[in-house]
Amino acid sequence: MQRVSAEMPIGIFDSGIGGLTVMKEITRLLPEEDIIYLGDTARVPYGIRSPETVRKYSLENAYFLMSRGIKILVIACNTSSSVSLDLLSEKLPVPVTGVVGPGARAAASATKLKRVAVIGTETTINSRAYERAIKEIDDSISVTGVACPLFVPLIEEGWTEGEVVRLTAEKYLSPVRYNGVDCLVLGCTHYPIIKDVIEDAVKIRLIDSAAETAKEVRRVLKDAGMLRRSRADVSREFFVTDSPGKFVSAGERFLGRKILNISRINPEKTLQVYSG
Ligand code: DGL
Repeated sequence: MQRVSAEMPIGIFDSGIGGLTVMKEITRLLPEEDIIYLGDTARVPYGIRSPETVRKYSLENAYFLMSRGIKILVIACNTSSSVSLDLLSEKLPVPVTGVVGPGARAAASATKLKRVAVIGTETTINSRAYERAIKEIDDSISVTGVACPLFVPLIEEGWTEGEVVRLTAEKYLSPVRYNGVDCLVLGCTHYPIIKDVIEDAVKIRLIDSAAETAKEVRRVLKDAGMLRRSRADVSREFFVTDSPGKFVSAGERFLGRKILNISRINPEKTLQVYSG
């Protein structure tokens, strides 16, 4: 196995394009770092699948990124972070950061009324990972979880504004509005895209775990002496598990920049190579 060094890239994966919201925050905070991003577009969405299936996919994705030589793995998917962080942390020889811990910490310090709501996919909400992480910090905080399964397909379809997404948000979020909570965690990588719509529906403080995760990545790399020194040439490499077309067009919208260096891979094959 390659020795881990500060010159290696940060590896990021998500079930698809949503994790680009996390990548965007990481590149904003750490512009000198090389990044390899894997979007498991052939098997998206994860949010409706069982924890066992999500763990299997996540391990395959992680092993693919390890095979490219990364210094830290970022699970830029709430569903995967909710159910596979422990497994990946145990299996990989590099630090692993998920999005749940950073989001939970931000929520716990933001709530004044000690009442937090979390929205996410069905698998994320059913796992109660956010609730556990918030209560570990402060057991007196009450946490309400609301699954919003229609948000991901609407966002993927580009319906990020207008009546359909507004009414959907109002319907999903009315329990939040009438529950006396003072902060809402966007527990899904897609949701920052419709932040304005969600904000309008709840009118309380929103916690975006993407920005918090980027801070966590910087902290972990700094503590390990693994931050890369500033350099002129920075590489951004993208991999997908299905044809790249839709990823590129929607991804450029998410990321706010061109996606040039992209290839299609089969992560199941890497698992065989990596685990012998
Ligand atoms: N990336 C997923 C998450 O953050 C949303 C999309 C999916 O269901 O795969 O939970």
